[in-house]
Amino acid sequence: MSIVRLASFAFSGIETVPVEVQVQITGGLPAFILVGLPDKAITESRERVRAALNGMGLSLPPKRILVNLAPASLQKEGSHFDLPIALALLAAMDIVPSEELEGFAALGELALDGAIGPVAGILPAALGAAERELGLICPLAQGGEAAWAGSVEILAARDLPQIIAHLNGKQLLSAPQPPALETSTAGQACLSQVRGQEAAKRALEIAAAGNHNLLLSGPPGAGKSMLASRIAGLLPDLTPAQALEVSLIRSVAGLLEGGRISSRPPFRSPHHSASQAALVGGGPKARPGEISLAHHGVLFLDELPEFGRPALEALRQPLETGFCTISRAAAHVSYPARFQLIAAMNPCRCGHLGEASRECGSAPRCGETYQQKLSGPLLDRIDMVIGMAPISPGEIARVPLGESSTTVAARVTQARTRQRERGVSNAEEALDTLVPALSQEALALADRATTQLALSNRGYVRCLRVARTIADLEESDVVKRRHMAEALTYRHRSRLAALV
Ligand SMILES: Nc1ncnc2c1ncn2[C@@H]1O[C@H](COP(=O)(O)OP(=O)(O)OP(=O)(O)O)[C@@H](O)[C@H]1O
Ligand SMILES: [Mg+2]
Repeated sequence: MSIVRLASFAFSGIETVPVEVQVQITGGLPAFILVGLPDKAITESRERVRAALNGMGLSLPPKRILVNLAPASLQKEGSHFDLPIALALLAAMDIVPSEELEGFAALGELALDGAIGPVAGILPAALGAAERELGLICPLAQGGEAAWAGSVEILAARDLPQIIAHLNGKQLLSAPQPPALETSTAGQACLSQVRGQEAAKRALEIAAAGNHNLLLSGPPGAGKSMLASRIAGLLPDLTPAQALEVSLIRSVAGLLEGGRISSRPPFRSPHHSASQAALVGGGPKARPGEISLAHHGVLFLDELPEFGRPALEALRQPLETGFCTISRAAAHVSYPARFQLIAAMNPCRCGHLGEASRECGSAPRCGETYQQKLSGPLLDRIDMVIGMAPISPGEIARVPLGESSTTVAARVTQARTRQRERGVSNAEEALDTLVPALSQEALALADRATTQLALSNRGYVRCLRVARTIADLEESDVVKRRHMAEALTYRHRSRLAALV
């Protein structure tokens, strides 16, 4: 009555939790029992395993088959336990040598014909296997993804017969190679295509250089969406550690296509109909949301007031802490969510508030109602607000081409390098190090503005951070008065109101 054991993993956020699949076949009435807090997908895996074995001409022994997923106290979910259950069962049936399985963990979903289908979380599983000095058996399509873990032995197989042949030494599987790192910014639209709008471009550059949150406000057709989407081309490459973290989140979300890891920061632009779960994560499977998929990159919320109120309010905590915690019935799951918020909006529903010839009859009340959809605490977290007035159609073709994304990106990279050398991104710098960098005049101006603009403590600190970035763009170690003055113009809440 020996027990066959095979390692696998459950996931908690982007962390792996080891799970051992134990199979025991004993005499008694024929049964196939699965225990160890499985969810519906795992309970159904019995049927898939049975069908896959049948497909290979094998039938389950007419005995009592007990499958336990240990530790029993951990709630397990997902179809990726199909493969380890089938392999442990095959070992218990002496079809594969059980000692061959000892050095491996396995993840994969089985089709009824024994084909092994892709599952979420292969990258963290491969890293988890490496940590525990195990190899990984995974779906063929995800071999490249697993191979990023480095020294791990990867068996990436199309179907069960291929693994059986390999483990019996009949036909060996070749080791998969990780796909090339994606580094290209090709195909990204260039900033020079946006004509004029110099003030908004300047704000975008500062936001990109210091990771600051930015809100663009203006009438329809002003070029807000056009400009905001070009921030992707201004940001420097991720560090290898950041690229790995971003890829782990994508892997857990089942979105790491072809196992391709990119060194470019993510740019996510969910539609305003996105639910709270889609935006911040959660739902029945506690999936990472858009804010986590935008980790180390940009979350672009176009038409900001059109997003659901609960979804917007749910951004408040992650905007401050850089992660979000989703509460489940059984546990709390945390995902990293250090993202830069870029948002765009019209000043009112018709969009023409402030344009005397075009605004509707209910101005300015319609603007107030529309802008009230954004709560004070959310606006307080937005470092910079800039109004964009459209260029008249007659003029637009005559405005000369501006700087290209490459030119601006070079300045952004320079400013970010200065921050990296200081050890902290400006968007997260604390008052203790911000204040000593201020000149006397800058500090005096900030203090005066605090009362005049009725800044909150958060608003004050965020203003100092933006000023620090403006100084960085000028390669100045000291934050001078003019840097502070420019930063304050972006903080001016009445900028939003000025459009009214
Ligand atoms: N400054 C500009 N330079 C070049 N093209 C522009 C500019 N502004 C607007 N356009 C043109 O107008 C189109 C609409 O711009 P965009 O979608 O960015 O406007 P918007 O401000 O987001 O409007 P809405 O509030 O309706 O979403 C662009 O696709 C572009 O063709
Ligand atoms: Mg738009």
